[in-house]
Amino acid sequence: MSELFTPYQLKDIKLRNRIAVPPMCQYSAENGMPNDWHLAHYTQMARGGAGLLIVEATAVSPEGRITPGCLGIWNGEQAKVHSGIVRAIRKAGAVPGIQIGHAGRKASANRPWEGDDHIKEDDPRAWETIGPSALAFGAHLPREPREMTIKDIERVKADFVSAAKRALGAGYEWLELHFAHGYLAQSFFSIHANQRKDGYGKDARGRGRFLLETLAAVREVWPENLPLTLRFGVIEFDGRDEETLGEAIALGRKFREKGLDFMSVSMGFTTPDADIPWGPAFMAPIAERVKKETGLPVASAWGFGRPDLAENAVKNGQLDLVMIGRAHLCNPHWPYQAALELGVDRPSWTLPAPYAHWLERYKL
Ligand SMILES: Cc1cc2nc3c(=O)[nH]c(=O)nc-3n(C[C@H](O)[C@H](O)[C@H](O)COP(=O)(O)O)c2cc1C
Repeated sequence: MSELFTPYQLKDIKLRNRIAVPPMCQYSAENGMPNDWHLAHYTQMARGGAGLLIVEATAVSPEGRITPGCLGIWNGEQAKVHSGIVRAIRKAGAVPGIQIGHAGRKASANRPWEGDDHIKEDDPRAWETIGPSALAFGAHLPREPREMTIKDIERVKADFVSAAKRALGAGYEWLELHFAHGYLAQSFFSIHANQRKDGYGKDARGRGRFLLETLAAVREVWPENLPLTLRFGVIEFDGRDEETLGEAIALGRKFREKGLDFMSVSMGFTTPDADIPWGPAFMAPIAERVKKETGLPVASAWGFGRPDLAENAVKNGQLDLVMIGRAHLCNPHWPYQAALELGVDRPSWTLPAPYAHWLERYKL
């Protein structure tokens, strides 16, 4: 019996299985507006059979975009176009989710296939970057951000709240706050990016404050019956992992007290000097520990693209949901193929009728 293909319920939301498409930037928007590319891309992913589909990192403000091609949800016009994507995802049987975020000191960058580096400051396409401290990431992102004032902090929190309201208005049913991967929230948490001397830095409590306050503010506008989740980098692989993980777990418990429903466990990416032990499902034991010690249900990504690995992570109780990213880009029907491989009876139910009918008939 497959566990990967059992339904999953969180609050009022029921997923048809434990497979989620994680947020994956398409860098294909203009002025943050979703377009035909996004509609086609997300529709095909949802038709593939995953239970949950989380739309890519979507900026809460223009300055919060990673690149000029990143999606946004800072105005009503964008939210209206998002609602068409939401309808298409839901019609294909998946739950529509969205990740909202602010890129912080990693903002104002070129698209990955155009260099992935900061846009030169004298280029008219560049914009000001901000962060907890005036510390650059380094490597391909050398620009020093402006240290945020308390007023900046209040403004960005308010931008998260407004974006959450627009996401709700657009019909999204699963909200993920982007507190990972070295972007703004993660950099508040990280000693590599936050050397503030005020209440938003100084010690672990201070470094968690922006994240906790943002979560609490969003919880006030995001309905209790819908999952409020976040993606959090709980480890940096920088040689002080036990300490970072301990701090992340302590903060995770506070997140839970503030109303967090679910955590997607990921990495920090706040230093270019990380020594990441890439390998199949390498985040599974870390996610399992976060789950046990925070009491939160969890997901994780990074190398679960082999169906047996995804199946085992759920079966062993390490993950509640498994995020399948690049394997979905390669094959949007990954869930159908995984079901076949795992010997799930009549896996055609993972597909919409216009496909399922023919595949079943011809035993494909
Ligand atoms: C093209 C691409 C874009 C990505 N964009 C995001 C993003 O918007 N937000 C995020 O949290 N992670 C992002 N990621 C990371 C993925 O969500 C995922 O964690 C990663 O691909 C590892 O999972 P996988 O091994 O199944 O591909 C991106 C990854 C890829 C390949």
